[in-house]
Amino acid sequence: MNYANWFRVRLKTPHPRQRAFLRSKAKRKVIRAGRRGGKTTGVAILAVQAFLQGWRVLYAAPTSEQIAQFWKEVTTALAALIDAGIFSKNETEHVIERPGTDQAIKAKTAWNADTLRGDYADLLILDEWQLMDETTWEDVGAPMLLDNNGDAVFVYTPPSVRSQAQSRARDPRHAAKIFKQALAEQEAAAAERRQPRWEAFHFTSKENPYISREALREISRDMTTLSYRQEILAEDLEEVPGALWSITQFDTGRVHQFPRLTRVAVGVDPSGGVGECGIVVAGIGPCPCKGTSETHGFVLQDRSLKGAPDKWARETVAAYHTSRADRIFAEKNFGGDMVEATLRTVDPSIAFQSVSASRGKDVRAEPIAALYEQGKVHHVGRLDALENEMISWQPGSSSWSPNRIDALVWVLTELMTGQASYKPIFMAVDPEQEPRRSVFDDRPNEDWPKHFRLRRDGIRGRKLW
Ligand SMILES: Nc1ncnc2c1ncn2[C@@H]1O[C@H](COP(=O)(O)OP(=O)(O)O)[C@@H](O)[C@H]1O
Ligand SMILES: [Mg+2]
Repeated sequence: MNYANWFRVRLKTPHPRQRAFLRSKAKRKVIRAGRRGGKTTGVAILAVQAFLQGWRVLYAAPTSEQIAQFWKEVTTALAALIDAGIFSKNETEHVIERPGTDQAIKAKTAWNADTLRGDYADLLILDEWQLMDETTWEDVGAPMLLDNNGDAVFVYTPPSVRSQAQSRARDPRHAAKIFKQALAEQEAAAAERRQPRWEAFHFTSKENPYISREALREISRDMTTLSYRQEILAEDLEEVPGALWSITQFDTGRVHQFPRLTRVAVGVDPSGGVGECGIVVAGIGPCPCKGTSETHGFVLQDRSLKGAPDKWARETVAAYHTSRADRIFAEKNFGGDMVEATLRTVDPSIAFQSVSASRGKDVRAEPIAALYEQGKVHHVGRLDALENEMISWQPGSSSWSPNRIDALVWVLTELMTGQASYKPIFMAVDPEQEPRRSVFDDRPNEDWPKHFRLRRDGIRGRKLW
């Protein structure tokens, strides 16, 4: 039955950029657009159209604001049909369905795979995808579409460093990667003159004719140029102008195994307020990668986290023990001896050394950036969040505090630049007797975070499509 002939379906008229993805026949759509560009409204129109064809639609977004916006659109659109009793609506569960059938629109808050488990759909929409844990798609999203050969839509805004604070993504660039893959597939299909399975769409906030200049000015008021380019112009920035590091550097130097390390230490940069506490584990050891053996740095783990002092102190001490580090370094200036005292309440036996920041962050970071440039620092496996911070931080112009970078700079300065070279107070184990276990040993090491174990090959082996 074509309900629309009998009842008024109240949908907004899509703007041209929305129309482009509404018309697309691709089974997988990736929409990258600026804040308030009309992403949620656009996919709500898509959801209603699919639902009216008898489909089961599942919309997932990490925040309740998005759910509310989506829900408002679909309930308004279908109000007449709901009132007539053709469809039933459950406000608390956010479900509209045709009783006794699978035809439904469901809206769900979801940050990760677990929150989506146990459902299936003909159309799955993942809104604010950049904030979600990417395994949501691989572990649950893709499988749930299998039975009915369903469609999927990924919607995102490139995450700026400030929006990353609320993200559950493991790799902050995961949405950008899926966009790139979609674009590549789309271009390949065009070259072969076939229907693309994936399509990528991009538009800026300014291309939404329904948002006023004032509203746009309001949301972009406190943004840096960088955030503006990401959140309004929806650009995926891989290389930020002025940043001290680049992705290419990390990828070129990346290793999956490391030599026997002569020193291992933990760098800590506690945040003043609610921010993140940087906790980075690194070591040095003889590296043959340049033909001769020279001492290189190996960044082993980024265990930075947000939380109260007892939380970061416990994490730091755990990092110190599990990596068998011989010292913890933290800045002295920050609250005097507060850091040391906090760490010692967790474990009084730690070897701790404070370092003082006589120079600014930028000046401190430069010698470390130079070591990377010379290929003398290797990242062991993937350190996505740290790397993302490193490529986004613009010394001198970034207003945010790069806590992961600070922790990294502390530890590498002490280990590598010789300004405060130190002798280990003790060695917990004789490295000759018991070689340090690599993260990439076959035996899973329970000390490492779960995703680290799963992704030890660096790039995931499973295909996305
Ligand atoms: N096709 C449209 N017709 C009228 N208003 C629209 C349309 N698309 C978006 N809007 C309005 O623009 C604003 C931003 O849209 P929204 O979908 O929430 O953007 P986003 O999800 O990209 O942040 C909302 O106030 C919404 O009602
Ligand atoms: Mg939205």
